[in-house]
Amino acid sequence: METFHLFTIFNALVFLQLFLKSYSNLIDTITPTQSITDGVTLVSSGQTFELGFFSPGSSKNRYIGIWYKATPEVVVWVANRNNPISHSYGELIITNQGNLLLLANQTRSIIIWSTNTSMVAKNPVAQILESGNLVVGDRDSLNSEVYVWQSFDYPTDNFLAGMKIGWNLKTGFERHLTSWKSNDDDDPSTGDFTWRLTLKGLPQLFIIMGTTRIIKFRSGPWNGVRFNGSPSTLAFPVFKFFLVSNEDEVYYSFRSNAESVITRVQVNSHGSMARLTLYNGSTQWSIMYEVPYEPCDGYGYCGANGICRINTDPFCECLKGFSPRSVEEWKMLNWSSGCVRKVPLDCQGRGDGFLKLEGVKFPDFLEFLSNKSMSLEECKEVCLKNCSCTAYANSDLEKGSGCMIWFGDLVDVRELRNKVSEENIYLRLPASEIKSNGDMQRKRRLKTVIIVSIIISSIFLLVLLLVMLYCVYWKTRSKMRGTRIDKEDELELPLFDLATIASATNNFSPEYLIGAGGFGDVYKGNLKTGQEIAVKRLSKNSGQGAEEFRNEVELLAKLQHRNLVALFGCCIQEEERMLIYEYMPNASLDHFIFDNARRKILGWEKEFDIIMGIARGLLYLHRDSKLQIIHRDLKASNILLDGNLNPKISDFGLARIFEGDEKETRTKRVVGTYGYMSPEYAIDGKFSVKSDVFSFGVLLLEILSGKRNRRFNHPDHHHNLVGHAWLLWNEGKALDLVDLHFEDTCNVDSAQVLKCVQVGLLCVQKFPCDRPTMSSIVYMLEDDATLPPPKQPGFFMERSSKENEDTISRNEEPCSLNSVTLTMANGR
Ligand SMILES: *[C@@H]1O[C@H](CO)[C@@H](O)[C@H](O)[C@H]1NC(C)=O
Ligand SMILES: *[C@@H]1O[C@H](CO)[C@@H](O)[C@H](O)[C@H]1NC(C)=O
Ligand SMILES: *[C@@H]1O[C@H](CO)[C@@H](O)[C@H](O)[C@H]1NC(C)=O
Ligand SMILES: *[C@@H]1O[C@H](CO)[C@@H](O)[C@H](O)[C@H]1NC(C)=O
Ligand SMILES: *[C@@H]1O[C@H](CO)[C@@H](O)[C@H](O)[C@H]1NC(C)=O
Ligand SMILES: *[C@@H]1O[C@H](CO)[C@@H](O)[C@H](O)[C@H]1NC(C)=O
Repeated sequence: METFHLFTIFNALVFLQLFLKSYSNLIDTITPTQSITDGVTLVSSGQTFELGFFSPGSSKNRYIGIWYKATPEVVVWVANRNNPISHSYGELIITNQGNLLLLANQTRSIIIWSTNTSMVAKNPVAQILESGNLVVGDRDSLNSEVYVWQSFDYPTDNFLAGMKIGWNLKTGFERHLTSWKSNDDDDPSTGDFTWRLTLKGLPQLFIIMGTTRIIKFRSGPWNGVRFNGSPSTLAFPVFKFFLVSNEDEVYYSFRSNAESVITRVQVNSHGSMARLTLYNGSTQWSIMYEVPYEPCDGYGYCGANGICRINTDPFCECLKGFSPRSVEEWKMLNWSSGCVRKVPLDCQGRGDGFLKLEGVKFPDFLEFLSNKSMSLEECKEVCLKNCSCTAYANSDLEKGSGCMIWFGDLVDVRELRNKVSEENIYLRLPASEIKSNGDMQRKRRLKTVIIVSIIISSIFLLVLLLVMLYCVYWKTRSKMRGTRIDKEDELELPLFDLATIASATNNFSPEYLIGAGGFGDVYKGNLKTGQEIAVKRLSKNSGQGAEEFRNEVELLAKLQHRNLVALFGCCIQEEERMLIYEYMPNASLDHFIFDNARRKILGWEKEFDIIMGIARGLLYLHRDSKLQIIHRDLKASNILLDGNLNPKISDFGLARIFEGDEKETRTKRVVGTYGYMSPEYAIDGKFSVKSDVFSFGVLLLEILSGKRNRRFNHPDHHHNLVGHAWLLWNEGKALDLVDLHFEDTCNVDSAQVLKCVQVGLLCVQKFPCDRPTMSSIVYMLEDDATLPPPKQPGFFMERSSKENEDTISRNEEPCSLNSVTLTMANGR
């Protein structure tokens, strides 16, 4: 009996173990009693990464690797990259000491790959984390990030958020990426290219080829914000990269800022490095940037003492004071032999000077000296004292301090695409080269100079003549127009030039794009002065000439109100028309009101302030005596919020620019946004202050409900938000419209909320003449006015019922102008 019992218990245990083994594929952890066989995978807790056996592409070989569950073809890490298994009997186990072993087959005699850790874990487990890191450690200490081994320490060809590239200074341990042997032939074995951080001189990233150590690409030194010769991705908010440098370690890393976008860096078997992104829900990776990208990225492309400029043809020039070592080769566009000095350095006393080169990628640190405590002046002195010194610069680009001195040839210098003022080096030259460029050349050039000056002066005279003619023409034209603008209030509207704006926005780089609307794209820009701006690049079909545009912008610049976005100036160059605005850090209102979490931040009082602010801003636009502005595209995304969440209307007056001086109230071109447009505007193109009032009403109801008018859904009917509000109003349940988010704020004044709903409904009434003016609205919202009952709103129809579509308010009936009457509760 007893033996029988023991036997069944034993059997049950065996069964349980088998059960655990075979159903372990949905978990993220293995322990010594489990194993991963071919076909079984571990999946990280958030389903991002998967670990298991795979064969790359068309290969038959089996490897243990980690890949994105959404895009299994992207393998970010390979364990046995140099030791593939040719059959499917492999098994990954963890030993009782905490070693991961990849075994060839069940006989367990051949170890294909192991973590070979010397540290021992008491209760060992291996876990695949959401970051893509495979970690091994004690069950109890994994949460506190104490590992005996982790795959992030042994990267393959992919650099993920949280990984480190660089050095542990205490142990000398280096982490770097190594490409696959071939991405095209699906061979993950150790390839030719490494991507690593070097600390010689200043920290720099290199792509280096194999044992020959041929450099493919050098990032340039870390300047406190980025590597100065690498593409700028600073404004790309999805991830943030950084360099950590302290006594223990120096490494480069990045973290992800947005859960909806995954980014990684990959070094491929052709020796280039790319940053790739995957948007949530997508299965297509896109390349954000790749290096080497252009000829000037190639290491030492122009040879010693040459400088690569991407905007010149050919790209290579010798540095000032140098000439090609071989003119013949140089003529053949073979720059590899570089440049030599035209005139030797003086080296005696004060015979040499320095030429400042601005905005360059620093030469590589082949022979150098650096001293953090020396000033730039001391640096210069030290350089002058040693005849082999060729250049000096600040060694700390971030603080603009310290000293870096180069000896001998200057290699891999290029002009930066976006210059930052601190990135200057001082090139040592004999005095003769600095002052005169040499007498020989002077004589040779004298002739050209004379010819050029004659041409220039005749052009100058011609231009002068034209300007005078233009002035005369302008004066008569101004007189004919009457007093165009009074002299004293003629505003000095700053005109920005295209180069300034282009450099502030990194050449309108997509990373700086912060918005796009009907009139054009909006970029964030950083002026050299440190000021942040928003640049609206108008789409090219405004049809306005430069002068008309300028007049229009000058008029708009005069509109100044705390609830309007301030216009700083404009930029007019050839076809380009741009408006430069103050930059609003808190983005637009739609980010707040349609997002439950952010909405809570606002609270009712702030929301009411925002409603009032918009109303006042709009009133100002409508009532300003000189220039009645009808916005025509009022919507949540056109209300920007400043640092204190004060609302500011943006894009006002743009319709004017696009329509010219059109005074009629009917337009061929309907600008606006469905959902906010009044019926008479959307259908007949008629606009007036009352069409803005309609949009304001929609916006008001959206703020109250936290729902978009257009995408509004309700289980009981197919009306939009406005229709829904109207139904609730008629049922006497108007307060139901308002979201519950105000509940936790005790001082919500429900009478005030109700009044807002009523004002909103008054604004969206079908007939323009029924709608109140902005001044009435401000009054209604501010004071205890008794409001008239609203009539049926515009576009009141169920969206799915086709038969109603044609009958919307085409047959507008005249109505009494006085239909909105106010009764003041307390007469003053
Ligand atoms: C396991 O591998 C060894 C060596 O490669 C081989 O001799 C043996 O036949 C394999 N066993 C199985 C079951 O595949
Ligand atoms: C494991 O590490 C030891 C030294 O730490 C080394 O001698 C041995 O060759 C390594 N084994 C493998 C399989 O890498
Ligand atoms: C990503 O998309 C899924 C569905 O496509 C969604 O459930 C999830 O919330 C999204 N995550 C983020 C951070 O946007
Ligand atoms: C360029 O010139 C170097 C000698 O300076 C030579 O070795 C090399 O082959 C030349 N390259 C080409 C493409 O002609
Ligand atoms: C750096 O410069 C300072 C001032 O000239 C000098 O005292 C110091 O010894 C230098 N340090 C090194 C490491 O050369
Ligand atoms: C100049 O600097 C080089 C490189 O550091 C050094 O080898 C050489 O001794 C220095 N010469 C003098 C005269 O200081």
